[in-house]
Amino acid sequence: MTNKTSVHGSWASRWIFILAATGSAVGLGNIWKFPYITGENGGGAFVLVYLACILLVGIPIMMAEVLIGRRARKNPINALTDIAEESDASKAWGWIGVMGMLSGVLIFSFYSVVGGWVLHYIKIMLTGEMLGVSAEQAGDSFGALLGDAKTLLGWHTLFSIMTIAVVAGGINKGIETATRIMMPALFVLLLILLGYAMSTDGFAQGWDFMFHVDFDALTWNVALVALGHSFFTLSLGMGTIMAYGSYMTKKASIGKTVLTIGALDTLVALVAGLAIFPIIFSNGLNPGAGPGLMFISLPVAFGQMPFGQLFGSLFFILVGVAAWTSAISLLEPTVAFLIEKFKMKRITASITLGAVVWALGIACLGSFNFLSDVTFFGKNTFDFLDYITANIMLPLGGILIALFAGWVVKDKFAQDELQLSGSIYKLWNISMKFTAPIAVAVVLYFLLFPMS
Ligand code: PFF
Repeated sequence: MTNKTSVHGSWASRWIFILAATGSAVGLGNIWKFPYITGENGGGAFVLVYLACILLVGIPIMMAEVLIGRRARKNPINALTDIAEESDASKAWGWIGVMGMLSGVLIFSFYSVVGGWVLHYIKIMLTGEMLGVSAEQAGDSFGALLGDAKTLLGWHTLFSIMTIAVVAGGINKGIETATRIMMPALFVLLLILLGYAMSTDGFAQGWDFMFHVDFDALTWNVALVALGHSFFTLSLGMGTIMAYGSYMTKKASIGKTVLTIGALDTLVALVAGLAIFPIIFSNGLNPGAGPGLMFISLPVAFGQMPFGQLFGSLFFILVGVAAWTSAISLLEPTVAFLIEKFKMKRITASITLGAVVWALGIACLGSFNFLSDVTFFGKNTFDFLDYITANIMLPLGGILIALFAGWVVKDKFAQDELQLSGSIYKLWNISMKFTAPIAVAVVLYFLLFPMS
């Protein structure tokens, strides 16, 4: 079973796999979501738990996903059932893949709405509308966008079409180029933004906010959001990395590859946070402002700096590309499944799935306007879908994948793929069997049954 290739093609080299997986990992989660949830959850303590989760839970689970995908060379559901069979276990493990696909569909529905916000900001940066705006004006402008369902629908539709088009064309070519050129460019622009942030008088406060750990601020909910975000940001717990792993060549080392992806993803998030918080503080904005944080703070900064219109436009274009490569990866596992299971053509599968996620997206964008009265457990549709996917479905998928890799997959198969030295393999195996599942279970338990 080890020398198979996927019917969907394969990445030309290890680097291309790194690029594609990094393209999936680095996205709105790093630049939009990480800063705003850090702000909402009090800063340093949250960042510390997030970093611990990436290292102790995220990286080992990512290795498991790649190994399962690469070994089976199939979509996540079939990969899990094949490997289960190979290890004489029940095919019911395939259900993890089903939940994963559902997570992808639900995440896409709000992701695409935020992708649409980015497209809108590309436009208003290019036209210079935001030049010299005050923090208050920037806030009003974002608020007006959220209230305008028609405009949101237009951008959400455009973002969905862009994504479906790439998935329909087969992901190899599209993603490779986008990631190879755009990711480094995004990073350079983030560094420029960081340079600007360092010149503001809010830098020390921003730094402190992110890295000063106040343990009193640490609650089970903060830990859950940090844990959930470590899955979201690394695209774990739903089969995306498994699907990408199924296109990876046999030669590449899984351990090194995964460490590179994790490091790049974390770096982008930290730099984004370090660029955004000083701007927030030097303009008297509230770090806990929620999903609008980046859209309100950055136009103010670009509006003040030299060449701001140019840098601002470029920045939002690159964030748009990062969001795009991630959105593509949200749909890929399900499209691969539809093709394999129902013998659909790739284009038919992409359009069918695209129609579903686009329609769901309308419920999310309506959360800010015509559907604002619709709530689930006190959250609007947008927040609710974000919460249950990132904080419940992905960690649950992650625990199950870890348990599967640790207890079900036979050691000889896992070691055959991972090729780790004896002691490192042991460490990974312990993390799959115990550390990762227990960490996730403890956090979920205390969230559901709070001690008081
Ligand atoms: N990792 C992406 C981000 O940080 O924006 C979001 C994401 C993509 C989550 C793909 C899950 C996924 F499968």
